[in-house]
Amino acid sequence: MSKSAVNEYGYQSFTVGGFRFERDEYFAHIAWPGGSHTMPVDAFLRALMRDISWNFFYGIVNFDHIFGTTNHYGNVDVFAGLYNGAFRSRNAHHVENFRTEQVRAVFEAMLDDWTNDGFDPFAAPEETGSAFGPKRGGNQRAISRKRLVATRMTGMKDDIPLRSDSDGYPVNRQFADVPQDEPEIHAEPGFENEVHAFNFFAYVSRSDVTWNPSVCSAVKDSQVCATTEEYVLPIIHGNDRVEWFVQLSDEIHWDIQDRETGAPRARVVMKPGDVAAMPADIRHQGYSPKRSMLLVWENNDAALPEMYATGKLKPNPVDF
Ligand code: PHB
Ligand code: FE
Repeated sequence: MSKSAVNEYGYQSFTVGGFRFERDEYFAHIAWPGGSHTMPVDAFLRALMRDISWNFFYGIVNFDHIFGTTNHYGNVDVFAGLYNGAFRSRNAHHVENFRTEQVRAVFEAMLDDWTNDGFDPFAAPEETGSAFGPKRGGNQRAISRKRLVATRMTGMKDDIPLRSDSDGYPVNRQFADVPQDEPEIHAEPGFENEVHAFNFFAYVSRSDVTWNPSVCSAVKDSQVCATTEEYVLPIIHGNDRVEWFVQLSDEIHWDIQDRETGAPRARVVMKPGDVAAMPADIRHQGYSPKRSMLLVWENNDAALPEMYATGKLKPNPVDF
């Protein structure tokens, strides 16, 4: 990583391998040997925030239709145009592979330097300030949030705690009608630390972030993740395994595209109670007109990407 002196707007520029990143008042500018790309800086920072806090996530994190990362779990590809049909057909794409820690260090330093006071990349647009303008302080508290990962289940002893007003997690403005009562638990003696229940809707209604699935229960590789959504999923996620979605409230519109080229494949409008299995060979981006609750069911088995890549498993888990 190399850091330069600040530019006329007060921002540092960053490099990793042949990639160079600069920001001005409105945009992130990305350059690589043979090409360059510009993104609105608010969208860039929202994507960067998730890429870092999810440790490059499952498979591909497209920041937009050109730039992104592919997770190989230990090393990471940083690419431009790799999953863009037009770039690929002209052989205009560029990709470099790095150790995960090397990209992380650069991306974390960039997020820190480029995030201004009052801008929270995890917040809904209505609930945060502007990302734009010359450098204006920072927001270390917002950008150092970690993804919540329960070992067994949220609210159990020594696990991720439930949320409350007194812990600084009030009910979100759009979930004021969500009942906050908790279930009664009557465990047989000796099983007090094994039997557990909590009001999932109440817990999710108190999330202060958007598009940030947190693991609420884990049984071996089966992870039930809860998230509240509002506005646009800041990344276009290229799956390396199947993901199940259960729409718990309100509505999300999904654009589903071919993972390799970005060619449109489907539009899915999910309403409360709808369940979708997102195939392993797609990319998707969601639009949530109001704050909504989504349950994402992930399979954390490290053997899956290889099984899909080699055709041992077919990309869709069910046929209708
Ligand atoms: C996804 O890419 O599957 C995804 C990511 C973040 C969310 C929801 C879904 O909040
Ligand atoms: Fe996904």
